[in-house]
Amino acid sequence: MTREPASPLGDLRLSPLLTATLPRWEQITAELRRPGPHIADVLRLADATGRPAVQPRCGVGGHPEMLRLLGELAATGADVLTVTVDAHTRLQQYATARRLMRDSPGDLNGYPLVAHGWRRGRELRAHVPHPLQVRHGSPDARDLFAVSLASGITSFEGGGIGYNLPYSKDVPLRTTLGSWQRIDAVCGALAGDGVLIDRELFGTLSAVLMPPSISLAITLLEAAAAAREGVRCVSPAYPQSGEMHQDIAALRAIRVLGRRYLGADVEVFPVLHEFMGPFPRTPQYANFLIIYGGLTARLGRASKVVSKTAQEGFGIPDAAANAEGILNTILGTSDLLDFIRVDEDRIAEEESWILQEVGELVEPLFATGDLLGGIVEAFQTGRLDIPFSASVHAHSDVLPARDRGGAVRYAHLGALPFSGTTRSRHARQLSARTGATHRATGLIEQITRDINYFLDKERTVLPATDERPQP
Ligand code: 5AD
Repeated sequence: MTREPASPLGDLRLSPLLTATLPRWEQITAELRRPGPHIADVLRLADATGRPAVQPRCGVGGHPEMLRLLGELAATGADVLTVTVDAHTRLQQYATARRLMRDSPGDLNGYPLVAHGWRRGRELRAHVPHPLQVRHGSPDARDLFAVSLASGITSFEGGGIGYNLPYSKDVPLRTTLGSWQRIDAVCGALAGDGVLIDRELFGTLSAVLMPPSISLAITLLEAAAAAREGVRCVSPAYPQSGEMHQDIAALRAIRVLGRRYLGADVEVFPVLHEFMGPFPRTPQYANFLIIYGGLTARLGRASKVVSKTAQEGFGIPDAAANAEGILNTILGTSDLLDFIRVDEDRIAEEESWILQEVGELVEPLFATGDLLGGIVEAFQTGRLDIPFSASVHAHSDVLPARDRGGAVRYAHLGALPFSGTTRSRHARQLSARTGATHRATGLIEQITRDINYFLDKERTVLPATDERPQP
């Protein structure tokens, strides 16, 4: 009797019920090897041409509805399409997801891929000529990852920090880092066999006023952890702050950090998230911000930009709004805007500050033998931290604020291990705005204003809604 070769999926320790339904490992790898545009080819082409690939988020509960949605968005000029997964699946509530999928799929806020199963996942993939990516927000995505692979999907978002702290109240980092380590190890085994899986890292974190060095340090640590498991393709994503020089600098810094800390055998594709904070509701201004995001991605030489929609301020977009968001993002990445010249000296200066700060955050951790243990401990002591975290496992002692030009700086550094030079620079940059140290209430008001940055900008540019002509 011949024994089957051990499947790397065994190390994922999947739900037993799920394991029984999955195809054999050879069948999974055969599907992953099927010809078709691979995400890495799309991202490499974007780098070669200088036009970032454009990707919307998209996911609905029903299978025929999801096929239709993908078909509609495929015709817009998007380069990568998404399977956005619903909240029940993210929390491994597969029975609830399955019941809603059958009885009222419209009540799901995404596509329940585990409940639909890998056969339908393959149908999604076969339906459009675009590479698909699974996006979710799950602290423990092992089952979802296995179904994604069996579906033939070669790009998977998430990581042990970025898919924990913004989403979960009390899941220990050790748990999420361990579960993502298993996922990365499967990607590593596949890479060793010549099958590349792109691992996107969610540097948006808690989504508001994220200082670039925190976003980049965290995705770099996740990328390094993934690379140690053999991952060879990572897409660290950074959220647009809205200050163009800072955003360009951050996107360019991602490539430098990759070369410096990950080594030549890991491909690094920087991704821009169009503005993730409170979004203007006037359709024209929302679309203007979306175009501005596309332009930021182009000037920052991002490999990819994840698009927003004019319905962002109201909830999950319908297909028409999503298509419009894709088109406006594409306009922003157009070479027609190549006449725009940015202040390269200012960007280089921002980039050097970001690289310095990221180095100060991550180098003590790379110096220890135990990267994952070091990360857990650093969050315990506050030497790693993110602002506005939902989780008890981050101190959230760090407070960001915008400087006079709109760039995000640190108003409170918490216990981040920054050098004296970095500390005094941030104090200087913010005092140039406020003129003096502010009282506690003043600071909260200021941060609220900084979070609502584009709502303020919208008000100053456009007349109030009731003064505008009604369509
Ligand atoms: N389809 C499209 N966009 C979605 N988002 C969340 N779920 C979906 C979905 N199923 C978007 C939100 C927000 C971002 C965090 O993700 O609208 O822009």
